[in-house]
Amino acid sequence: MKKYCIILLIILTLNGCQTNNINKSTSDVINQKVDSLLNIMTLDEKIGQMNQYNGFWDVTGPSPKNGDAKYKYENLKKGLVGSMLNMRGVRDITAVQKIAVEETRLGIPLIIGNDVIHGYKTLSPIPLAEAASWDIDEIENSARIAALEASAAGTNWTFAPMIDISRDARWGRVMEGAGEDPYLGSLIAAARVRGFQGDDLSKHYTIAATAKHFAAYGFSESGRDYNTVDISRNTLYNVVFPPFISALDAGARTFMNSFNELDGIPATANSFLQRDILKEEWNFDGFVVSDWGSISEMIAHGYVKNGVDATELAVEAGSDMDMESHLYIKNLKGLVESKKVDIKLIDDAVSRILRVKFELGLFDDPYRYLDADREKEVMHHPNNHKAVLEMAKKSIVLLKNENQLLPLKKENQTIALIGALANDDNSPLGNWRTNSDNNTAITVLEGMKAYPKNKLIYRKGADVNLNDGGVVKFHEKVKINENDKSGFNSAKNVARNADIVVMVLGEDGFQSGEGRSRTKIDLPGVQQELLEEVYKVNKNIVLVLMNGRPLNINWADKNIPSIVEAWQLGTQTGNAIAQVLYGDYNPSGKLPMTFPRSVGQIPIYYNYKNTGRPGPKNEVFWTHYNDEVNTPLYPFGYGLSYTTFEYSNIAIDNKILKKNNSINVSVELKNTGKFKGKEVVQLYIKDRYASITRPVRELKGFEMIELNPGESKTVSFEISESLLRFYSANEVWESEPGIFDIFIGTDSNASLQENFKLIRKF
Ligand code: BGC
Repeated sequence: MKKYCIILLIILTLNGCQTNNINKSTSDVINQKVDSLLNIMTLDEKIGQMNQYNGFWDVTGPSPKNGDAKYKYENLKKGLVGSMLNMRGVRDITAVQKIAVEETRLGIPLIIGNDVIHGYKTLSPIPLAEAASWDIDEIENSARIAALEASAAGTNWTFAPMIDISRDARWGRVMEGAGEDPYLGSLIAAARVRGFQGDDLSKHYTIAATAKHFAAYGFSESGRDYNTVDISRNTLYNVVFPPFISALDAGARTFMNSFNELDGIPATANSFLQRDILKEEWNFDGFVVSDWGSISEMIAHGYVKNGVDATELAVEAGSDMDMESHLYIKNLKGLVESKKVDIKLIDDAVSRILRVKFELGLFDDPYRYLDADREKEVMHHPNNHKAVLEMAKKSIVLLKNENQLLPLKKENQTIALIGALANDDNSPLGNWRTNSDNNTAITVLEGMKAYPKNKLIYRKGADVNLNDGGVVKFHEKVKINENDKSGFNSAKNVARNADIVVMVLGEDGFQSGEGRSRTKIDLPGVQQELLEEVYKVNKNIVLVLMNGRPLNINWADKNIPSIVEAWQLGTQTGNAIAQVLYGDYNPSGKLPMTFPRSVGQIPIYYNYKNTGRPGPKNEVFWTHYNDEVNTPLYPFGYGLSYTTFEYSNIAIDNKILKKNNSINVSVELKNTGKFKGKEVVQLYIKDRYASITRPVRELKGFEMIELNPGESKTVSFEISESLLRFYSANEVWESEPGIFDIFIGTDSNASLQENFKLIRKF
């Protein structure tokens, strides 16, 4: 503790009157403290702050399993480490923090980062699933629960939210984002940042957020992870940037750059992205962390010859912290001493990092997040489970429900439950569960047992083939003989005598995620065959899908009466699915990503451009395929309920919109079915003509409305000029006068229509 006191004393003395109450400081005060500290740091110590290591700590010290542990440990003791990731739990983090605080010359605390993506121990649904709830408050709450648990286990900083827009279901990481739409994505980005950071970063239960990956990582060619990105400025500004701007406005304190290149320059060395846009134009005063090894990967990109050049270009471009390339610590000093890198760049990067550490309250008390009693108390707290269950129910999307097969009757039914995923307590956790424990999800089988008045018979039928479409190299659970159909007969026998068959099919949790792109997005292995075989003996099938991306389910859509999209719903999966199937929660989710009819349609998204040949003028020469229609299987925004809703009477209060005014458009929504239910009423706007071509329509608002059977409500949206802005041919964010069409309805095919005119003269 001695060193820590000394450094604190120095800072406080240099600032004269400041108290140790850093969490109440204004940013000016923090800036002064940062400057004071910077003044007494050696070049080595400064570079150390820019160095982040992956965890190397065992209970008793540096891990003997890890070859470079000794080297990292020595650097930690010398004050050459600013941050660590993948360190978990109060005991281990206290051990490393103690070294940083008590054994180094200045005692600067570490900032501990972790991938807290959708929960820490208690896992909520994967982010794509959460996005399907369209429930911004619930999503914020889910991030808050994640922060509560993560901070109690010593984490100060999460590498989330991932806010990469993607239009490609082949890309494995779509599971980690909010889907294809910049408007919905922006609201969710801000909600997640607020959830993680709260309104005071210095509180012991909040953590710093990371807006990642900056930028355009979701546009990797052909959906192959880490692949080249080649997109227009138009797409970059109008599609990719909005969630980042929104995260920044919500206060995101760090950004992570991305593995991809943009315009031939790796994002890590991209000054346009990191300096011109992020730090100058957007005025971001937090810090940028590289992605894992992305500084050294610039050699493989063919952008630099060696690590020294990689270091120079990365730091010049504004990558402030080196995650696991080990290049800054190796090369930066030489580069500064030889005057190749200006010390001002180092000072700027270090100031940014220190600022966030101050804001987190780490200088105030470096052990603030390290309370073993709190850790025990908070982890898996019943309230956390309650919250993730709510989130999980809201994330489910009802895709089809013919003959009101759902909700299931609660008694006197024989239900055949089929599919390996129905009895899987691991897969529903998704692939980002590094902080949590394997095999901790409630299975569908367990969830359905809570309805004991029916007879429930389970058969596996077939495994999910982990080797089909995304080889799971790192996952110990790779099974053999996964094309085994020996379970088919037993499954069919049970199905034949059942009133209803519930089949849980889809992807393993490790078939999506980083490095897990697929060219086929259908049901892996023999699951499709199993579905068709069971269908031969009983047509009353409810298909429950578990997956981390939109799947290709054309056959099921044609033949299976009820289809429920259940994604990977985290710890409470089984309870959430059972409660939805039995109607204790009426599904309200809407797809955040278009479901294609075939992989050949990808990229497919609702806010496409019309082109010069949109409609069939003749049989051949218009924008279409010869072997498939253009429309998706399920559009963006789509999702049913056990009740039905009717839209009518669209009305607009003014056909002219002037700059500082707003107009209102309203619609009447009626619950015409038999159940109480929630509907997400969606507003889309089309800018008819502009200086650059505009999408056929864009989501610009939505409201979640709950109605009793027979009840109606007028739902209205305010439209102001700012809602109509885009990055125009003038290279500014502006609206352009002209006519705009409005569409309101249940999904992105909304057909109730109005229009108005935006005028320039006010
Ligand atoms: C991912 C990041 C992640 C980092 C640290 C990288 O491979 O792209 O999103 O935060 O690893 O785990």
